Amino acid sequence: MTRRTFFKSATAGIGSVLAVMIGYPLIDSLVSSSKALVKRTFSKLGSVNDIQNSFKPIVQPTKVNFSKTDQDAFVSFTKPEQVWVVKKSPTDIKVFSPICTHLGCRYNWDEDKKQFVCPCHNSVYTIDGKVVSGPAPRDLDELPIEMKDGDLYVQYEKFEVGIPQKIIID
Ligand code: FES
Repeated sequence: MTRRTFFKSATAGIGSVLAVMIGYPLIDSLVSSSKALVKRTFSKLGSVNDIQNSFKPIVQPTKVNFSKTDQDAFVSFTKPEQVWVVKKSPTDIKVFSPICTHLGCRYNWDEDKKQFVCPCHNSVYTIDGKVVSGPAPRDLDELPIEMKDGDLYVQYEKFEVGIPQKIIID
C-alpha cells in the first residue's frame, strides 16, 4: 500500500466514523421529536345506543373493533384496534384496553364465570377491570372516553405490561 492510498483509506474511514457520530444523534432527535408530536385523538366506537341494550338484566361486555387514526408531524396513519366496552347504563360506560396487564395477551369475557379471563397465564378480572387472581400486576387499563351527539369515542393508548404502574408507551 502506498502512502497516498493509505491516507485516502484513512480519510474515508475517519469520514465514515464522523458521519455516524453526527448523523445518528441528528436522526434520533428527529424521530423522537416526531414521536412527541403525535397528536392523541379520540376514535369513534359507534352509537352509545347500539353498543348494548342497557335494559338487559345482566350487563355483558362488548368487544368493539374500530379504526384509529394518528397524525404525527409528517403523516397520518390508520390502523385497526379493539377495545372492551362495559356499559351499565347510557351514562355509566367504561372502556378497557384489550391487552392483559401481565404480559400482553388478549383476554376474553367468560360468560359462565362473568369475568374477564386471560388464556395465557389465567389472570382473572371483574367486569369493572379489577384483578381477581393470577399474575396480573394491576387492574385492566381503562381508556379515556367521551360522548358526543349520541356516539362514544375512545382515546386508544398502549401501556407497559408486567408492572404495577400504568405507563403509556404508545
Ligand atoms: S399475559 Fe395474561 S395472564 Fe399472562
